[in-house]
Amino acid sequence: MAVRWNAESLWQQVVPLWPGFTVEVLPEIDSTNTELMRRARAGQTDPVLLVAERQTAGRGRLGRQWQSAAGASLTFSLGVPLAPADWSGLSLVVGTVVAEALHPAIQLKWPNDLWVEDRKLAGILIETANWSSGGVAQRYAVIGVGINLLPRDAEGLSTPPACLQDLWSEVQAPDALARLMPPLAQALRDFEQHGFAPFQTRFMARDALRDRAVALSDGTAGTAHGVAADGALLVHTLRGMQTITSSEVSVRPTGKEGA
Ligand code: BTN
Repeated sequence: MAVRWNAESLWQQVVPLWPGFTVEVLPEIDSTNTELMRRARAGQTDPVLLVAERQTAGRGRLGRQWQSAAGASLTFSLGVPLAPADWSGLSLVVGTVVAEALHPAIQLKWPNDLWVEDRKLAGILIETANWSSGGVAQRYAVIGVGINLLPRDAEGLSTPPACLQDLWSEVQAPDALARLMPPLAQALRDFEQHGFAPFQTRFMARDALRDRAVALSDGTAGTAHGVAADGALLVHTLRGMQTITSSEVSVRPTGKEGA
């Protein structure tokens, strides 16, 4: 049965915030992020929501693949020209708003993942393209979100990923998209004006790592203590409090309670 996306209603809610906004739903594409980055490099930098019912080459962070079967996940990218004074914390803002829109049990795993009981529910991949208009530097943000709706294979993981239908009975991709897109569009405008700071408390309320022992991919061990006003992860280590800003550093909990 064909999926009904209700693109018109989404468009009506978002266009007042993002003039020129369009909504596009494709049955299949390699990757919604790849497509919007291709378009941006070709000069198409208007606000757009691109939804794919299936991706053949979905991408995750750190060069990983994002695999999802048709109907088993919600996969989309939102492309917007964005001009914040400070870009730090953008992925945290997106995660916070998506989690809040979908379910109280969803937690945030710094910097880009949504978790339910320590299992990954969703991931965020943000990429940017630069261009110049009339001598003024501009930046286009492509915000890709992939959310598991149905249970999926563990794919060699020790625990299978989480899925939204465990929290929200029989949810379909258009239901989740309709819930999260208006607050996400508004949050991007708020972030552009005020940065991450107004979202700090909201992020911390769902922080999956808070007060837990963590290990960083660079070998550092410590205890996570939430995030700073710029979104940096605060980790208490033997060398004192460290602020982790690089998204290239991955963090994993090593136990329930920190030292
Ligand atoms: C991650 O967990 O590492 C990020 C996953 C991001 C997946 C989404 S699905 C929609 C968009 N298109 C992609 O190719 N990736 C993002």
